[in-house]
Amino acid sequence: MIEDDVGELIAAAGGTDETIEGVLRAFGPERAVRLLLEELVHRADLEDLPHARAVVRFACHLGERTVEHRIRVEKGSGSLGADAGAGEPDVTVRCAAAELVRAVFGPTGARTSATRRVEWHTTDPIGPHNEVPRTAFVVQRLLRGTAPGREDLAELALRFGSDKWGLHFYTPLYERHFAPLRDRPLTVLELGVGGFDDPRAGGGSLQLWRRYFHRALIAGIDIAEKTAVGGARVRTFRGSQADPDFLDAVLEETGPPDIVIDDGSHRCADVIASLRHLFPRLRPGGLYLVEDLQTSYWPRYGGSSESLSSPATSMGFLKELADAVNHEELNVPPSGTVADFGPHVVGVHFYHNLGVIEKGVNQEGTLPPWHPARSG
Ligand SMILES: C[S@@+](CC[C@H](N)C(=O)[O-])C[C@H]1O[C@@H](n2cnc3c(N)ncnc32)[C@H](O)[C@@H]1O
Repeated sequence: MIEDDVGELIAAAGGTDETIEGVLRAFGPERAVRLLLEELVHRADLEDLPHARAVVRFACHLGERTVEHRIRVEKGSGSLGADAGAGEPDVTVRCAAAELVRAVFGPTGARTSATRRVEWHTTDPIGPHNEVPRTAFVVQRLLRGTAPGREDLAELALRFGSDKWGLHFYTPLYERHFAPLRDRPLTVLELGVGGFDDPRAGGGSLQLWRRYFHRALIAGIDIAEKTAVGGARVRTFRGSQADPDFLDAVLEETGPPDIVIDDGSHRCADVIASLRHLFPRLRPGGLYLVEDLQTSYWPRYGGSSESLSSPATSMGFLKELADAVNHEELNVPPSGTVADFGPHVVGVHFYHNLGVIEKGVNQEGTLPPWHPARSG
């Protein structure tokens, strides 16, 4: 479930210490630090350390105040507890609360660890000739999340159980289009959570986006119940991608998206209905991506292998958007889709089974009337 105001914390994370501290106080320092630590647990991939056990205390300073939380790590997962329940700490990590906010949710270049200190309380050295405490493996994993690096999207897709790499090979293409946006506070909306009728299954790609876009709020819609799928910064809604009233209700809660990924029914009519409704509501500079375009050629999905330019198929519709990019060059006033989308589509990219549409202001104008190419 997305905390309603976590976006404020993410936005503040790009600001000064004073700005961050003001938001921390308004947010509630206890709740804020807890949310930051939940994020670090998510980013730590603790399932890779199934035998590690440790209690890590975080002591975060905000003016005169110190906010403490403990993370208990065992059996490949981490849980946050109230002090007494979590057990005696093996190690304490101290830092300024504002620095932790910036390190977790700030832009990449702004992260520091200037105020951080690690104090080991137990000594269980790695080996007779290596005095580093064994719990260092856990602490390193937890702190890794304060400097998210260049995670490989294919590896994340496999880890979280999305078919975006392996069955399809979209992740290098996503990397190409998403990398410039990665450091910004964003809202990402995916149509199709996954897992179909199983309410506990799916959500692999939502976790993928949560990890990759470390400053984003992630929303997913699905025709099936998905309330059991989620996590901090992730929220799901139940309804059809082809229902404009439902989509409006979702956007009412999430705000306008920066990125929409259509991985829903893949039926041509649904793909086109969602695109028609959501593209105008995308933020300028945003991206709209349509996966699994192979269904555009398959009658079962409303597609056709004969009428390749039919605007009733997903590919036929996207091809019209390619013309919309050049809407100002037509010798007759554009109409229909070209007229509707033209002023707002600045790029259309076609890849194997994936379409990417860039939103922006497309009003450069055509060549001036005196240009030789225009006469005759
Ligand atoms: C391929 S799965 C999504 C996989 C997920 N995006 C991932 O990469 O992990 C497609 C999902 O779309 C959902 N779906 C089917 N028709 C839909 C519709 N009309 N509106 C919204 N979701 C729909 C299905 O229930 C299914 O869970």
